[in-house]
Amino acid sequence: MPKETHGLSLDGQGKPLWLSLELTYRCPLKCTWCNNPLDFEDYAAKELSTEEWKQVLRDARAIGALQLGFTGGEPLQRADLEELVAHADGLGFYTNLITSGIGLSEERLLALKAAGLKQIQLSLQSTRPGLTDALVGARAHAHKLEAARLIKAHGFPMVLNMPVFRHNIELIGEMIEWAAGLGVEYIEFANIQYYNWALMNRDELMPTLEQVREAERVVNEWRAKLGKAMTIYFVIPDYYEGRPKACMNGWGAIHLTIAPDGVAMPCQEARVIPGLAFESVRDRPLGWIWHESPLFRKYRGLDWLPEPCGSCAEKEKDFGGCRCQAFLLTGDAANTDPACSRSPHHHLVQQAVAGVAAPLRFRKPLVKRAAGAVSTAFMED
Ligand code: FES
Repeated sequence: MPKETHGLSLDGQGKPLWLSLELTYRCPLKCTWCNNPLDFEDYAAKELSTEEWKQVLRDARAIGALQLGFTGGEPLQRADLEELVAHADGLGFYTNLITSGIGLSEERLLALKAAGLKQIQLSLQSTRPGLTDALVGARAHAHKLEAARLIKAHGFPMVLNMPVFRHNIELIGEMIEWAAGLGVEYIEFANIQYYNWALMNRDELMPTLEQVREAERVVNEWRAKLGKAMTIYFVIPDYYEGRPKACMNGWGAIHLTIAPDGVAMPCQEARVIPGLAFESVRDRPLGWIWHESPLFRKYRGLDWLPEPCGSCAEKEKDFGGCRCQAFLLTGDAANTDPACSRSPHHHLVQQAVAGVAAPLRFRKPLVKRAAGAVSTAFMED
């Protein structure tokens, strides 16, 4: 497949194949690793209406979007979710719901099925009620298990997503065992990325290298045991790997995110980078934003890459890493992602991992996702 470096993307087609709709930042949970903006509550009054979201769907389909994730916040907080799924399905999208499971009653599940929903990604933080509830800051564990049971009972393809950090990484084995018992075919262990709430809590959340290596060993053991019955996704996090991740498959290459207020972004975190001109679908045609806007063109392709990326043999593999991480750690989004061992700023990542103490749980209060709230509550099973 031809790769453009001057033009629209690296997929050879210039299409936003992956569309993420952040329907709302509202959420009943208070996760300390949430990647929503710190000022998430300011967006509640600015959310796109049902008709505006439908227009987004039509416009995105017209420029080639195919895979669609309804996400948030908690997308089930939107009463029009089923209507939007039906509209998307009618347009030919492959629809995914990315949910905590809170609010997923059997009635809504049936309505989503009737609307044409194709797949559900459910998050679960552990198999232990007290731990899950403490981690998400709500009585959520029982609801999540019931949601998992219902999703399987109604025959949806399901991705079980476990965000991984210091407090639960040692429970990966028992999570796999539990998921295998339920008949889950795909489980994703997502080492959390440090933006927004997670960045604020990074020193407490980041697992040790020993924990990561042990988790990898456990995952490989289960892979051998379960074979094709379950796909287990787990990769060593970029800050321990020394290689940057191919974030978003490259800026403005195939990913298009629409925030609750209609702002279109190359990734969910892009607004952490100051000085960029963000455009809303309320003011500009989506096709123009994707193809022409300065925001999407800023770091698209390979020609803008700084050294050492520009002359690196791996530049088509990792595109210089993550722009948001580069900004958050070095102050300049155009720098090589410091997760890369060749970055002149790599010491910043090395300092962060050197500061990770032994896995003593909750030595310091984690800042929970709530305006100004700090919680010291923690329950251990
Ligand atoms: Fe924004 Fe990686 S999260 S580019």
